Amino acid sequence: MSRQQHSLKPWNTFGLEAHASRVSVVENVEDLCRCWQESTLENEPVLLLGEGSNVLFLNDFSGQVIVNRIKGISVEETEDAWSLHVGAGENWHQLVETTLTQNLAGLENLALIPGCVGSAPIQNIGAYGVELEQICDYVDVVCLSDGMRQRLSAAECQFGYRDSVFKHHYRDGYAIVAVGLRLPKRWAPVLSYGDLRNLDPVTVTPLQVFEAVCHMRRSKLPDPKVTGNAGSFFKNPLVSADIAAALKAQYPDIPQYPQNAGEVKLAAGWLIDQCALKGYRHGGAAVHQQQALVLINAGGASGQDIVELAHIVRQRVAERFNVWLEPEVRFIAAQGETDAVEVIA
Ligand code: FAD
Ligand code: EPU
Repeated sequence: MSRQQHSLKPWNTFGLEAHASRVSVVENVEDLCRCWQESTLENEPVLLLGEGSNVLFLNDFSGQVIVNRIKGISVEETEDAWSLHVGAGENWHQLVETTLTQNLAGLENLALIPGCVGSAPIQNIGAYGVELEQICDYVDVVCLSDGMRQRLSAAECQFGYRDSVFKHHYRDGYAIVAVGLRLPKRWAPVLSYGDLRNLDPVTVTPLQVFEAVCHMRRSKLPDPKVTGNAGSFFKNPLVSADIAAALKAQYPDIPQYPQNAGEVKLAAGWLIDQCALKGYRHGGAAVHQQQALVLINAGGASGQDIVELAHIVRQRVAERFNVWLEPEVRFIAAQGETDAVEVIA
């Protein structure tokens, strides 16, 4: 009997046809550890998944995919904040909606980000001026080999732009099982990004921010249920102040976002757009027409089509701007995660 027989198409938002030898959906920590230990004993690779909205399957996965559906939301009130303890398998956007219905503000800028709550700390999800680290209190992980649990404070998570300790020290052999969030009762709207600037900071409500964010996202980003994609395919590149100044002199319209430590963030979508790549198609893959940073499955794409398109995009941007883009999306090969930059180089 073939070991590559469970379709991963429902488990990745690119909608790619790939297969795994097993797919196990787990609802508690004990089953999660047991599944991981069974595969490890058989020397079989294991991949943890939430909703597959930040992964690219390069080919079939020759092992077990464990889908985390550990649920549960509890809320505690303190004098100045609401403290939430959320199971890693809860859906992020549903959590945003649930909190707003209960009049708990603070997550509205992060509306409509696909995926599970447990995946949110991994790349420190961010949108419209807010990153998870601003509201994250702690992250609970389990060591999969012995079932020991550990609570990491927000500081221990070492959050950065699309980065955290979960991409490094805790990448292999650990799973995130719950996330603690702290929403201060004194709400201050974050209206620094895009059309949110048009809202009145004195009268605006959390629900109005939520609706504005949903509106902006729906107008730009493809719905994975309709068009396969994994959001921004590349990270926005960080360059030195000198490089940023030279680019600004040559391209006065270039968007730039100064960061700490003198670095400047560039908009990868703008760089790709300037290379006239919007709508560019390669096999079944294409650059999204409304947002050049999003690569889509335009119909029947293979992982290889997306990889080749990503290579072309990266080369064109480097030829024109001498800036090398790096994927945000995690690349999954037959045996597990592989270096995305090397694959598209
Ligand atoms: P998955 O894709 O399932 O997994 C991602 C990685 O985490 C994989 O390497 C996986 O092995 C690992 N992993 C999954 N669960 C666990 C666990 N419990 N413990 C340990 N490791 C685990 N991101 C943003 O930051 N901002 C955005 O605005 C944004 N917009 C998006 C819009 C669209 C249309 C799409 C499709 C994606 C967007 N993303 C965005 C990316 C994506 O939504 C986030 O990265 C999200 O957090 C991924 O969640 P997931 O559950 O789907 O993770
Ligand atoms: N731009 C273009 N052409 C394009 C796309 C963008 O000129 O085709 C320009 C825009 O006009 C704007 C700038 O580039 O001046 C930035 O664009 P946008 O505001 O759409 O944001 P982004 O940098 O492309 C980032 C995140 C998104 C997040 C949004 C909103 C990364 C890699 N991406 O996108 O996150 O939703 O900001 O905050 O940081 C994701 O990570 O998957 C993701 C979707």
